[in-house]
Amino acid sequence: MKASKLTYMNPLREKEAAVEEKPIINFRVNEERCIQCGECAADCPAGVITMDGNPKFNEDGGCFRCQHCLAVCPTGAVSILGKNPDDSQALAGSFPSPSQMTALIKGRRSVRRYKDEDVATGLIDELLNIACHAPTGVNAQGILFTVVKERKVMNALRLDVMERLGRIKDSGELPEGFVGQYMGWAVKVWREEGRDIIFRGAPHLLITSAPNDSPCPTQDNIIALTTFQMIAHAHGLGTVWDGLFMMVLSLCAELTGRLGIPDQHLIGYAMAFGWPAVEYQRTVQRAPALVNVVR
Ligand SMILES: Cc1cc2nc3c(=O)[nH]c(=O)nc-3n(C[C@H](O)[C@H](O)[C@H](O)COP(=O)(O)O)c2cc1C
Repeated sequence: MKASKLTYMNPLREKEAAVEEKPIINFRVNEERCIQCGECAADCPAGVITMDGNPKFNEDGGCFRCQHCLAVCPTGAVSILGKNPDDSQALAGSFPSPSQMTALIKGRRSVRRYKDEDVATGLIDELLNIACHAPTGVNAQGILFTVVKERKVMNALRLDVMERLGRIKDSGELPEGFVGQYMGWAVKVWREEGRDIIFRGAPHLLITSAPNDSPCPTQDNIIALTTFQMIAHAHGLGTVWDGLFMMVLSLCAELTGRLGIPDQHLIGYAMAFGWPAVEYQRTVQRAPALVNVVR
């Protein structure tokens, strides 16, 4: 099969949109609402708020824009970064129950069978805008979500990857060891059966990356992708961590540029996703956690 001419490079526009200018801090207290409880000062991890009657903000301190002051205020008196506290989602009583979270965590399975159907772009955007609430070291918030939103783009990527791998295999350049074995197998089943074991036939792909010079890019990337995974499954979507595509990237380094991932970024991981063509009826039964108790 020939790769279609369709490009799958992310439009630059979308990449630029992810790199917003940082807003100025603009700490404000609504004095009519403030009850001088001191919660904002007590919870500020950078210690830049002190109580002098009303809260006072130290402009020269090391505020890292976590918005805890806005989030913790019982009366919604604190605004920072130009945010109106009334625009935040109220939290009282709205967390999922432990049993709901347990079902989600234990019931999530790696999905390897997908419907040939696009996930609505609005839903993908919603999930990404939730996943970006995942914690990042020093609140860097630098995760770039590189996403394949359309099946036709995914199909072009799939064909391109299979062709690249096929060329590497045919020229005898697959590496020794398990990467070479997996990639060789992927080419074989694609050519002989039209079966895609790299993306498992998924209609969408998500890759997280973070600036190399951010404080914790490795951790931030994985936490963001895990957060995406959990909210995706809560919506009934399926996902699978895509180690085989990571192997492809290790063999075809030029692909990251074609995907629009900046050179200065550390790639975290890839995850295929879409509407599942499989429904799991019960949890698997894992061995108890391996625990090392420090005494
Ligand atoms: C880092 C990582 C990479 C993975 N890579 C792949 C992959 O390339 N293809 C695949 O089908 N499954 C992949 N998986 C899924 C694992 O095989 C799966 O999580 C494991 O078998 C347990 O199954 P479960 O996720 O349904 O609980 C990967 C999982 C992780 C955590």
